[in-house]
Amino acid sequence: MKTTPTTTLWECSEGQGGARAAIELLDRIKWEKYAREIMRIEEESYEPARRDSRQFFARTIRAPRGVSLVSLRGEQVVGFAFAGPLELFPEVQGAQTDPEWGKFSTLYSADVTVAAPYRGQGIGFQLKKRQTEQARALGYRFVAGRNRVALASAMMRITAAFGAYQVQYFDNGYGSGVEPGGSVYYHIDLDPGAGVGPGAGRDSRERQPWQKPNR
Ligand SMILES: CC(C)(COP(=O)(O)OP(=O)(O)OC[C@H]1O[C@@H](n2cnc3c(N)ncnc32)[C@H](O)[C@@H]1OP(=O)(O)O)[C@@H](O)C(=O)NCCC(=O)NCCS
Repeated sequence: MKTTPTTTLWECSEGQGGARAAIELLDRIKWEKYAREIMRIEEESYEPARRDSRQFFARTIRAPRGVSLVSLRGEQVVGFAFAGPLELFPEVQGAQTDPEWGKFSTLYSADVTVAAPYRGQGIGFQLKKRQTEQARALGYRFVAGRNRVALASAMMRITAAFGAYQVQYFDNGYGSGVEPGGSVYYHIDLDPGAGVGPGAGRDSRERQPWQKPNR
């Protein structure tokens, strides 16, 4: 008899603040199960300009080589992360001008969100960690994404912890007209020792957060 492979990527019995949480791969069946709760957290967490739609998430779930994750406390959704191949997101500012566009080398991190009552307990960090691990396992070379500078400082600290560096900058990346609207488009090099690409080289462990590596 076939057994269903486990999709739990991380489990903590006692996180900071006493939270128990797990991170699981989000497939189509789990998406249907948790979509309503995910959309509620999305709407509570973002102003309209940064909010992703249910259709956008569903498309990301269906994509081959996607990496979508849900963090659960029991049956309750406490966070999620959606990512897919860069080429799935031609409408995203920076995607088509990304130097890796068209190479199918890059996982684009579209959304990482933790529900407000559960923030500051390490769940966002763990979602990013599992996302980068899955990206590497699927053969991607980079993880890319955008952080809105004034409103995503916690996320910028997390991405910096994984070696993120700025590839592009947009003055009003979300087009909402709400100031400040600047956003940083970043890369995380998943194989900085490979000897090719912007993350290569001896300085990758020495540079400051967000500093582009030497070529
Ligand atoms: C951004 C967001 C996802 C972060 O999630 P979170 O669960 O609150 O974040 P964490 O608790 O994992 O991280 C908080 C801090 O702990 C650090 N941290 C957590 N676990 C860590 C670990 N194991 N090792 C090192 N650092 C760790 C993080 O780097 C971060 O640093 P800080 O204390 O200087 O802020 C969450 O705040 C959120 O959903 N915000 C609203 C939506 C949003 O802005 N999303 C980003 C859009 S780009």
